Amino acid sequence: MRRSDTITLGRRLLGYLETGTTYVADSSSHNPVASYLDEEQWRTEHSVLFREQPIVVAMTAQVPSPGDWVTFDLPNLPVLVVRGEDGVARAFVNACRHRGVAVCQEPSGHGRKLVCPFHAWTYDTTGALDVIPDAEAVTDVDPAELGLVELPASEALGFVWLKPPGSDVAQHLGEPLALELAGLELADHHHFRSTILEVECNWKLMYDTFLEFYHGVYAHKSTLAHLMQRNLVHFDQMGEHWRMAAAKKSVATLADTPESDWDVLAHVVVSYDIFPNLAVNLHGDHTAVYRIVPDPVRADRCLWHFTMLTPEPVTSEKAIGYFAKNFDYIVATGREDMAMASSTQRGLTSGANDSLIYSRYEPVLAWFHDRVADELSAAVAGPASSTPES
Ligand code: FES
Ligand SMILES: [Fe+2]
Repeated sequence: MRRSDTITLGRRLLGYLETGTTYVADSSSHNPVASYLDEEQWRTEHSVLFREQPIVVAMTAQVPSPGDWVTFDLPNLPVLVVRGEDGVARAFVNACRHRGVAVCQEPSGHGRKLVCPFHAWTYDTTGALDVIPDAEAVTDVDPAELGLVELPASEALGFVWLKPPGSDVAQHLGEPLALELAGLELADHHHFRSTILEVECNWKLMYDTFLEFYHGVYAHKSTLAHLMQRNLVHFDQMGEHWRMAAAKKSVATLADTPESDWDVLAHVVVSYDIFPNLAVNLHGDHTAVYRIVPDPVRADRCLWHFTMLTPEPVTSEKAIGYFAKNFDYIVATGREDMAMASSTQRGLTSGANDSLIYSRYEPVLAWFHDRVADELSAAVAGPASSTPES
């Protein structure tokens, strides 16, 4: 954020604090429970939200060197991201051209060759098929035609994006958000640790937990509550995405500090909610990147991907201990959200509610679900209503 924007944010948050208010939407709204339970909608979301616009499939920091790779499973599309010897990060369908097994089975790894675990067909880091052991076993194929299937991808702002034809990362983000993300310098960050947890709820219920902080001091009694102001949050729409700034208790000290000395970002947690499934949270000396992905088989299950980045490499034992503690703390906080989201799933299937209420303190929920509905209706209406080809 530009300094002038942080000052504006500090003034807003202090204003809320002094008047006992916070950011509110004009009105509350409702979303039918079916939007989380309907399996047809969930299937359409796979193809519309996770195939037709840019989706982050890796962080640059996860694959900093040639030979580094990560796997990332989108619904019905296992993705492998590999940095080639030429420095280019490429995305492939993680499916062996022999019989389709995932060539890389772990979340991450490194190697100049990618060896399929089934029969050891071997690919290089550009995806080309390099070796077929017992090559005489296969007589009617041209190995040159059997490289891993490459997916259109590009690397920008510290992320590797799957970029379907007709989509454009800069256009998807819009200039103000792209500039702000560029200012974070995530491309120069270092990967500390990642984890993936399975959650028993529709993916949108899990993503919803990132879109408001009304629940902050209630659902996070054991973690964030001691640190954060109760529901003291400011939201800014950035193109088709949102920035949320949740105030720490220490924000009150700004009132006694001259504005010229303000370090507003030390007193807030800034979160970028990037449609449809990405959240980037700034915690001062580390950055938490979350991606929520639908399970390919069950509408009531999703995956919570969390990656922690640091601006400097973490090498000393002391630093490793410090960031590991922060990592565990974030996972513990995430588990509190997961408990709420999976409990909501059970509540929704009970039939007690026809719709969910998005309160005036949860403006991004209303916006997010409106946008999901718009994208799905545009897809149903046909190509003429879809995102124009660029
Ligand atoms: S499926 Fe990969 S080598 Fe057979
Ligand atoms: Fe939360």
